[in-house]
Amino acid sequence: MTESSALDNLLSESRSFPPSEEFAAQANATAALQQEADADREAFWAAQAERLTWATKWDQVLDWSNAPFAKWFVGGKLNVAYNCVDRHVESGHGDQVAIHWVGEPGDTRTITYADLKREVSKAANALLSLGLSTGDRVAIYMPMVPEAIFSMLACARLGLVHSVVFGGFSAEALRSRIDDAEAKLVITTDGQYRRGNPVSLKAAVDEAVAKTPTVANVLVVRRTGGEVDWTDGRDLWWHDVVDGQSEEHTPEAFDSEHPLYILYTSGTTGRPKGILHTSGGYLTQAAYTHFNVFDLKPDTDVYWCTADIGWVTGHSYIVYGPLANRVTQVVYEGTPNTPHEGRHWEIIQQYKVSIYYTAPTLIRTFMKWGADIPARYDLSSLRVLGSVGEPINPEAWMWYREHIGAGKTPVVDTWWQTETGAIMISPLPGVTAAKPGSAMGPLPGIGAKVVDDTGTEVGKGGGGYLVLDKPWPSMLRGVWGDEERFRETYWARFHDQGYYFAGDGAKYDEDGAIWLLGRVDDVMNVSGHRISTTEVESALVSHSRVAEAAVVGATDPTTGQGIVAFVILRGVKEDEDASALIKELRDHVAKEIGPIAKPRQIMVVPELPKTRSGKIMRRLLRDVAENRQVGDVTTLADSTVMDLISSGLQSGK
Ligand code: WTA
Repeated sequence: MTESSALDNLLSESRSFPPSEEFAAQANATAALQQEADADREAFWAAQAERLTWATKWDQVLDWSNAPFAKWFVGGKLNVAYNCVDRHVESGHGDQVAIHWVGEPGDTRTITYADLKREVSKAANALLSLGLSTGDRVAIYMPMVPEAIFSMLACARLGLVHSVVFGGFSAEALRSRIDDAEAKLVITTDGQYRRGNPVSLKAAVDEAVAKTPTVANVLVVRRTGGEVDWTDGRDLWWHDVVDGQSEEHTPEAFDSEHPLYILYTSGTTGRPKGILHTSGGYLTQAAYTHFNVFDLKPDTDVYWCTADIGWVTGHSYIVYGPLANRVTQVVYEGTPNTPHEGRHWEIIQQYKVSIYYTAPTLIRTFMKWGADIPARYDLSSLRVLGSVGEPINPEAWMWYREHIGAGKTPVVDTWWQTETGAIMISPLPGVTAAKPGSAMGPLPGIGAKVVDDTGTEVGKGGGGYLVLDKPWPSMLRGVWGDEERFRETYWARFHDQGYYFAGDGAKYDEDGAIWLLGRVDDVMNVSGHRISTTEVESALVSHSRVAEAAVVGATDPTTGQGIVAFVILRGVKEDEDASALIKELRDHVAKEIGPIAKPRQIMVVPELPKTRSGKIMRRLLRDVAENRQVGDVTTLADSTVMDLISSGLQSGK
């Protein structure tokens, strides 16, 4: 299907699902929320900040005088970990389960808020004993074990800045992130379970840390029990350093703008950007959105977000927002088909999960596995379903509501980014009549628009670029160590209007609802993971046999996009077996970035299509990758190149 016909299909989507009267009557968010925000936006956000416990109140809600560098709740002081943990114990909820943890092999742990307070305090004392002090950076490279969450909260408690690196990234990706942030400590595990098998993680840390001058210690949680190499004086077992610590630790209040974390994400260049988030505004919006978008009832709900803490969704919707709201949640370590394809439904049935938040790529995988699998389980506890990470196609939205939500739960399609810190565009489950496939409109307090090239808002039925036209509390405060890149990437495109450029295309339908259409830059979205084309190209050309490479994201029915690479090889011999080399190149990319960046397909070509100024014409390559008739080639420097590529491909396969 071509892009434009897919779009026509989307925009003819006329089904709409208003909340049931019963749901609307009990919902946290009513239509009044929008009215409050419209009446006085800053007063509205000040009221939302009251969800948190502040040691010192702010004197100014927003300081935008140094735009695009925002300050929210200026002069306010708070401790983020105290807000996520201690205050719930102090209000008498120490026995409430914070985390029902489920390990991939079937082991479980139940962690109450009182337990969490003890664990986080011990971990904080341990980090102090290692000589870390406020403002230092800590890299966390771990699977979904409880200690990963304890570590993040211990950092927050001490004003240390964490940088969580997804456990699926390579040693090289870890190294570059450690170096960029100049982290002093790495927290990791010996190994992690992947589809039932223990695989090493510590080995990648050893490889990375051998080349990082700033790391003094590596703190290792025992998870899989495998053999690990050990560097005395540098490596420390978690159980040796943390277990014997005092369970008491008094949290200090930090400035509202104190850095909370850095999270690296792909941009349009080869080098990932360290997105910086701070404390008061971030936690306010994470808590506000989690409460209203998921209609959270802390006393009765059981919430489950299936993200990994290596991504922003894990930060905002497993750790910070939910815990600030005193959630009871499930945290699952493993893959959805280990040991069987009903694992998620089994967990929902067992823990009576009522709110489930996942990604379209997984929903499409569940569809492929078959509706008969969830049908075998009791999913009647579910009352809200959420989606995030990429546009959800109407078919997947309907399947989700029908087969997981028994045809009655609201489905909230939530649009946001690492940079926005929290949900920006989403239906409110008790208010909005949601359309399958649309994120609908900005949340109360948020300003979003679809504009054309000149920054003028398009009319109903019109398409263009998504922009955020007002500062928001959880907005990124910059790119770590690179002020210019921050301005250039997000604020230069619509500088005159002062809009934040999200990098996404979007459309209004005839009712003014927003439909997200995917990235307009060179960022791909593979299974909800952001990967830049240039990042993969750099990895490919770092292999000695690759002379040139061009990478495109091709539409993929399950993963949203799949990575397709076109490479020009050096030193090809007549009788060479290309398939062995292609395998080697795919593995090389996995080693440089991580398995998620492995190209789905690598095509060996004699030439790449370029404009006269030397820019690769990805549009044409995307046509080839998606088996479409190749489009307009008139701007090509050499218009025969595409024929060469096509004929080369036919004979080469
Ligand atoms: C895409 C993930 C359509 C979008 C929270 C964005 C979406 C990028 C949606 C951010 C959605 C995320 N509908 N597209 N509901 N949610 N995206 O930083 O292209 O990993 O720019 O944050 O994912 O990805 P990131």
